[in-house]
Amino acid sequence: MPDDPVDVTSVTLEAKAALGSGQSFWRTKAVGGLPAVVLTDGPHGVRAQADAADNFGVAGSAPATCFPPAAGLAQSWDRGLVERVGAALADEARSLGVNVLLGPGVNIKRDPRCGRNFEYLSEDPILSGMLGASWVNGLQGGGVGASVKHLAANNAESDRMRSDSRVEPRALREIYLKSFERVVTESQPWTVMCSYNKINGVYASENRWLLTDVLRHQWGFTGAVVSDWGAVNDRVAAMAAGLDLAMPGGDPSLDDEVIAAVAAGDLDEATVDETAGRVIGLLRRAADNSGPVEAVDLDAHHALAREAASRSVALLKNAGGVLPLAPDRRLAVIGRFATEPHYQGGGSSRVNAARVDIPLDEIRSRTAADVTCTAGFGAEGDPAHARADAVAAARAADVAVVFLGLSDLDESEGYDRDDIDLPEEQLHLLAAVAEVQPHTVAVLSHGGVVRLDDVDRRAAAVLDGGLLGQGGGAAVADVLFGVVNPSGRLAETVPVRLEDVPSFLNFPGEHSHVLYGEGIHVGYRWYDARAFEVTYPFGHGLSYTTFGYGSVEARTEDGAIRVALPVSNTGPRDGREVVQVYVSKAASDVQRPPQELKGFQVVDLPRGSTSMVVIRIALEDLAYWDDRVDDWVLEGGDYTIRVGSSSRDIRCTTDVRLEGDGPRIALSENSTIAEVLAHPVAGPLFTAMARQAMPAMPDALSSDGELVKMVGSIPLHRIRRFAGGIGQTAIDRLLQQANQPLDGQQ
Ligand code: BGC
Repeated sequence: MPDDPVDVTSVTLEAKAALGSGQSFWRTKAVGGLPAVVLTDGPHGVRAQADAADNFGVAGSAPATCFPPAAGLAQSWDRGLVERVGAALADEARSLGVNVLLGPGVNIKRDPRCGRNFEYLSEDPILSGMLGASWVNGLQGGGVGASVKHLAANNAESDRMRSDSRVEPRALREIYLKSFERVVTESQPWTVMCSYNKINGVYASENRWLLTDVLRHQWGFTGAVVSDWGAVNDRVAAMAAGLDLAMPGGDPSLDDEVIAAVAAGDLDEATVDETAGRVIGLLRRAADNSGPVEAVDLDAHHALAREAASRSVALLKNAGGVLPLAPDRRLAVIGRFATEPHYQGGGSSRVNAARVDIPLDEIRSRTAADVTCTAGFGAEGDPAHARADAVAAARAADVAVVFLGLSDLDESEGYDRDDIDLPEEQLHLLAAVAEVQPHTVAVLSHGGVVRLDDVDRRAAAVLDGGLLGQGGGAAVADVLFGVVNPSGRLAETVPVRLEDVPSFLNFPGEHSHVLYGEGIHVGYRWYDARAFEVTYPFGHGLSYTTFGYGSVEARTEDGAIRVALPVSNTGPRDGREVVQVYVSKAASDVQRPPQELKGFQVVDLPRGSTSMVVIRIALEDLAYWDDRVDDWVLEGGDYTIRVGSSSRDIRCTTDVRLEGDGPRIALSENSTIAEVLAHPVAGPLFTAMARQAMPAMPDALSSDGELVKMVGSIPLHRIRRFAGGIGQTAIDRLLQQANQPLDGQQ
């Protein structure tokens, strides 16, 4: 390895331009003794392709541990666990010669139909951002770079290479960019991957506002921006916008375009220097982390994959305590997924799992009682026959465990779903089984949300794993038998109907544009605001024990709110609770969702024990985006802290008063009377002016709320049409005095 850094100014323009595109499908170029960097998918396993190269998950790749995909892992809500998974991925990546693993995916699950939701963490930006940051910390702590993706507003697969996501600034900042902002500011990923789509009319790869102003200047990103594979539309425009590395590589004509643009004076050579410098920085980081590689302990990683999967299973319903299963229960295991588990989605993230736990085998290995197995659906021949066999087996057993879900073809990168229904055949099967067997347990595997009202009505218990990776079979068996007490929580709301979904009318868009008409009201923010029933709320998940919440205290401390409360295990078993903190602001100048998740913590509680749970909420996470000043604003006033076990199971609340910081908006002639009256300097001045100009209405503006309501929307300069006694000079003087302190602050 060279000791001296490569001096970018000593490199020819041709060589600098060449550094900005890859050498091949998964490799950058090498320079000055620094070896090429290998980038590979990800994110829930290493998809290292030695002989072939594709980003559709079609060609083979080396065997690797398949950890739970994001849709499963996010249900753990466990930052420590996610970090450990990241660290294990780093070991495997290094052993397979990979320097950068292409993940995590922190796009928001805007609509349950998005075909790639299984690769994303949540509908909530705080949960996505925090888990994403932990994953990056684990991975990069192990010497492998991350590539947080896909920046930004890439929330549908349909037409993804052309589609224009039209998003208002507030929703963009508070929802869609927020998760990326947290990962960048907290974990400094080596790279960020820009998405295929346009954002408000400009391709992500050419979006200087996004890649330079926001990402580098506002968030302080110091790494390299990599394109999604094939996302570069105009290489020169992309480089000028701040894109450093166009992938995949292998097309030298792209570099010629850069050289020609510099020669023609259309691109500043300093820009080429900067991007080349950042690619060299990436190569150096990889080189600095390329120490000796230890052999990977695939058994230990399988054990971690199982642990992660078992922590990600959410128990959605458990009527009559049908779970956990007693060891003497005779079981009828039904459904194809019991023998052919669906544990990951399709496309570029598809991992060649080193081994896969089969749920049926795992169940059998945990009980001495009789376990029968029938396919129930999807088998060759008459579906009625398969159903009849399953019903007979269920009737003969004490408990029926029915495995339902989506198949590999139902959800994948590259296309979206048209509905959120489970296949009808499966629902018929469940109905028939539940009719003869009251102790019916449904076990679900799927990446995107499915409609569950029918399942909830029929099954006595519902276990939802999302997608659980290669250890899912053992994890489900452990939860069924109570070896693991479930603690997973939904990271996405399960709506009653597709028609209730916030983006129902604006998905996946038309004629290559998508209107984000629901604004900031995404996921539970929307269902709460509309007071819609949901089948299972965001944050929901049961346990085999019960938890008691004491009273909560909250106070400001070092730029944060410190929320503290005792939580007790009041039930019969050891367990773990996911304590969630939502914040509301009733009186606000802007529209606010009824509540927003701002913090959470997983706490292990042995039976009978109590723990003091302390959660800190950074004040900046309470700010809203004010597009009048193009900045975050922390509004002063009372905030309600709501602590609970899910978004719809709030156990205790308290209020905190905050000072706030603005917004500092200068008054102008176009400011309304209401805005003038609310201003600390202009308000009293205006009242005095009005008193003088309209003696017939003494103090009316300041004391009569009704009058203020009526005239409050009149812009200041128009007041002259109504009150001749207020002249332009008086208005000018008022504005000058009111705006003085603001000028002084700048
Ligand atoms: C996907 C990325 C992936 C890349 C490389 C693209 O199609 O959108 O997520 O990392 O291919 O396989």
